[in-house]
Amino acid sequence: MQVVMIGAGYVGLVSGACFAEFGALVCCVDKDAEKIAALQRGSIPIYEPGLDELVERNASAGRLTFSTDLAHAIGTADLVFIAVGTPTRRGDGYADLKYVYAAAEEVAAHLCGYTVIVDKSTVPVGTAREVQRVIHKANPDAEFDVASNPEFLREGSAISDFMRPDRVILGVESPRAEALLRELYRPLNLIEAPILVTNLESAEITKYAANAFLATKISFINEISQLCEKTGADVHAVARGMGLDGRIGRKFLHAGPGYGGSCFPKDTVALIRMAQEHGVSSRIVESVVEVNASQKARMVSKIRDALGGSVADKTIAILGLTFKPETDDMREAPSLAILPALADRGALLRAHDPAGMEEARHHLPAITHYATSIDEAVSGADAVVLMTEWNQYRGLDLAHIRSQMNGNVFVDLRNVYERSLMERHGFSYTCVGR
Ligand code: NAD
Ligand code: UGA
Repeated sequence: MQVVMIGAGYVGLVSGACFAEFGALVCCVDKDAEKIAALQRGSIPIYEPGLDELVERNASAGRLTFSTDLAHAIGTADLVFIAVGTPTRRGDGYADLKYVYAAAEEVAAHLCGYTVIVDKSTVPVGTAREVQRVIHKANPDAEFDVASNPEFLREGSAISDFMRPDRVILGVESPRAEALLRELYRPLNLIEAPILVTNLESAEITKYAANAFLATKISFINEISQLCEKTGADVHAVARGMGLDGRIGRKFLHAGPGYGGSCFPKDTVALIRMAQEHGVSSRIVESVVEVNASQKARMVSKIRDALGGSVADKTIAILGLTFKPETDDMREAPSLAILPALADRGALLRAHDPAGMEEARHHLPAITHYATSIDEAVSGADAVVLMTEWNQYRGLDLAHIRSQMNGNVFVDLRNVYERSLMERHGFSYTCVGR
């Protein structure tokens, strides 16, 4: 089976490498010539655990190639996936589909023989049908079907999410296209991964509904965390007590600084716009977005209060910048909202992150010093703020950290540590909802 993956980003590169691992012949095409040159040299442009080995193995076996030349790649492909970005459109919050439609037009020009064009990007309802129209208009003789196959992988665990998915959603309306997609995903039959076939619209809405629901769980527990703080309850105990109810489930009930990343923020806003466009309300998701923004703002006050009411001239060591651990992705990371607000109030910020510092430098001029080690970050600091729960920060040598610091304030925005332990080490400890 021959597959072309348009877009070699977080989703395209992982999906392409995993399809190659399943045995398909995959060509990842990207218009970013530098990215493709790096991949051809064997260098992986993103940080995603295990991806380097997976790419190396499949590239060496000749199943995975990289190119900027779509015309050549399409050749006799059976399936062409579109996995380009769908960022928030500047000004109005809609998903910007310009990359998707540009890719569709490029595909149309080069189709040769029956091909299935598959939307893997997260796209508003109606996009697959529009892609169908775009291709048909550009190349009326082309023999093709369009399908929607949204992706549910998480950054940081992308390969295992792809290889062992909770489900695969196939929005596909022609038996011929369905057969090809089922054949591509056949290796998942072994683990009995459910494959759900729907129409195009249901597949597209499922993706947004799933992301918005997960974001709702996070905003819900973040709101409950405030009530816990005011009343002496522990949000961990509450989340566990709730989550043990099988109807609720324990996952995605960790209180923290608010959700970030390349998807929840943009997809919740895009869902609201999509609902408006279709004349229906989305009041729950609107509240989820509002609660998330206020949670980030609340973290700024929390840090200020922990430092006695002002951060002016205080040196704060920031541990973790990325929106979650095990990724270098800084898109919509809570740090991007919280750190400039601290700097505006006069804080001096020294930051450390295992993978995100290079990217952070482009977005966070608020940081006065990027430290190459945890020690360097905390040395002389008045306070430490644990922003992202990287493994490196889960087992800190607390006595040593305390001895390196000037002050004793520790603000744990991910609830990694226990208060009693921190107080034993002489920290003035603040966390979220406990
Ligand atoms: P990304 O920005 O990392 O990668 C997109 C890539 O597409 C870029 O390398 C860009 O150069 C390339 N591109 C754009 N137009 C092109 C064209 N016409 N031809 C060839 N290449 C082109 O984006 P991403 O994070 O991989 O997200 C892609 C889509 O998948 C988005 O819709 C996103 O919402 C969705 N998604 C992302 C994740 C995630 O964890 N990042 C998970 C599930 C779904
Ligand atoms: C999320 C979804 O989990 C994926 O299923 C989806 O495919 C992807 O978006 C997407 O559409 O791109 P991702 O953004 O990589 O994946 O990471 P998550 O693990 O979902 O975390 C998102 C944010 O929520 C992070 O900032 C994380 O710290 C935060 N979070 C997560 C919490 O604050 N509490 C939780 O309990 C869980």
